[in-house]
Amino acid sequence: MVNVAILGFGTVGSGVAEVLTGHESSIERKAGGLIRLKYILDVRDFPDSPFADRFVKDFGVIESDPEVDIVVETIGGAGVALDFTRRALEAGKSVVTSNKELVATRGCELTQLAREKGVCYLFEASVGGGIPIIRPLSQCLAANEILEIYGILNGTTNYILTRMIRAGITFGEALAEAQERGYAERDPSADVEGHDACRKICILADIAFGRHISPEQVPTQGITGVTLADVDYAESAGKKIKLLGRAIRREDGRVCAYVAPHLVDESDPLAGVEDVFNAISVRGDAIGDVMFYGRGAGKLPTASAVVADVIDVARNMGHRRALCWEPGGENAAGGADGLKSRWYVRAAAPAEGLRSALGGGKLLARRESGGGEAACLTDQALTRGQLEERLAGVEVCSALRVLG
Ligand code: NDP
Ligand code: HSE
Repeated sequence: MVNVAILGFGTVGSGVAEVLTGHESSIERKAGGLIRLKYILDVRDFPDSPFADRFVKDFGVIESDPEVDIVVETIGGAGVALDFTRRALEAGKSVVTSNKELVATRGCELTQLAREKGVCYLFEASVGGGIPIIRPLSQCLAANEILEIYGILNGTTNYILTRMIRAGITFGEALAEAQERGYAERDPSADVEGHDACRKICILADIAFGRHISPEQVPTQGITGVTLADVDYAESAGKKIKLLGRAIRREDGRVCAYVAPHLVDESDPLAGVEDVFNAISVRGDAIGDVMFYGRGAGKLPTASAVVADVIDVARNMGHRRALCWEPGGENAAGGADGLKSRWYVRAAAPAEGLRSALGGGKLLARRESGGGEAACLTDQALTRGQLEERLAGVEVCSALRVLG
C-alpha cells in the first residue's frame, strides 16, 4: 500500500482527494496496489468534509510519518510550499504538484534534490491543467531537437477573451465568472498580466531545451490592454486575439521566449481554442508539428493530471523518474526583440498617415469606429525595433504581433 498526503485542500487539492478516493479500485489496478489518502493538511477546518478525519494542521506529522510515501503539494506560491516540498523530499518522500510558480522558479533545485534523495518530483499538472504535455515532451518527443513551443497556456484569459467576444460581457464580469469556476489564480493578476503563462512557457522551455529559463528573463504582456476595438478590428481581418507563450531555439543556442497577445488567423487551429481550453504546439526536427489540446484549468481536469503522477510514482516505487535540467545563467534566454513578424497596429492617427508610416499595409475597418483612430496590418515582417522606428511620432494605442 502507498500512502498519500495532500497539502492544501482548495480547488485542486479537493479534486485530488475526490478522484483518488472515487476511482479507488481502478487506480489500485493501474498502480499495482492500493493508494490510501492518509492525511490532508490545510489551514482551515472542514468539519463537514467526508475526509474530516484525515485533516492535520502540522506539517511535521506528515514529514515524520514513515508510512507517507507521496506528498501532493497543492497550496500554491513559492513560500510555505517551497519549505514543505524541500522537507518532504529531504524526508525521502516523492512530491507531486500543480504549482507552476514553484516549478518555474525552483524546479531546477527541487528536481536535483529529488534525484539526490532517490525520489520523484513530478508536475504534469503545472502546465495545461489536464492536458498531458510534460510527459509527452520529456519522453515521447525525447528523440527530437525541439525547435519551438508555443500555445495558449492560460485558461482564465482564454475564457475571458471568449466570453467577451461570444457573450459581449465586460472584462470584469468574465474574470468574476472564471474565479467562480475555480480557474483563476488566488491573485488573478497573475493570469491577466501574463505571469502564469510566463511560468508555464518557462517550464516547457526548461524541459525542451535542458536549461533553466527564469520567468524574470521572459518579457511578459497580458491581456489587460486588449480592447473590444482590437477584437473587432482583428475579426474584420479574419483573425482572433489569443494570449500566447512562445519559446524558440535560436541558432546561437539561446532561447527566445516571451508572452504576449497575438492575432491568430481563423484558419489556424489555435483560433478555435475557446473557453478554458488550452492548446500547445511543439515543433521537433523529426516529428514536425504536434499539438496538445484540452481543459487548461479547473478542479477535476487538474486533479486528473496530479493523480496520474501519483499513480506513476506508486507504480514505480523505488525507481526514481529523473526529470531535470541544468541551471541556465543570465544569458540562457533573450527576449523577442530580434524576432520578425507582421504587426497589427491601432493608433490615434488618420488611416493613410498610419499606413504610410508603416510603409504600406492593409487598413482595417470596424462597425463602431469612433473616428480619429485607425488600424492597420503591416505587409512586411518587422522586428519590434523596426516597427517602433517607423511609428516614431505616431500615437500608438495597440501593437500586437500577427502569428505566422
Ligand atoms: P486554492 O487557493 O483553491 O487552494 C489552496 C489551498 O491551500 C487553500 O485551501 C488554502 O487555504 C490552503 N493553504 C494556504 N496556505 C496553507 C498552508 N500554509 N498550509 C496548508 N494549507 C494552506 O488554489 P488552487 O487549488 O486553485 O491552486 C493550487 C495550486 O495549483 C496553485 O499553485 C495553482 O497555480 C495550481 N493550479 C491551479 C489550477 C486551477 O484550475 N485552479 C490548475 C492548475 C494548477 P486558504 O484558502 O484558507 O488560504
Ligand atoms: N489560473 C490558471 C489558468 C490555472 O487559468 O490557466 C491553470 O494553471
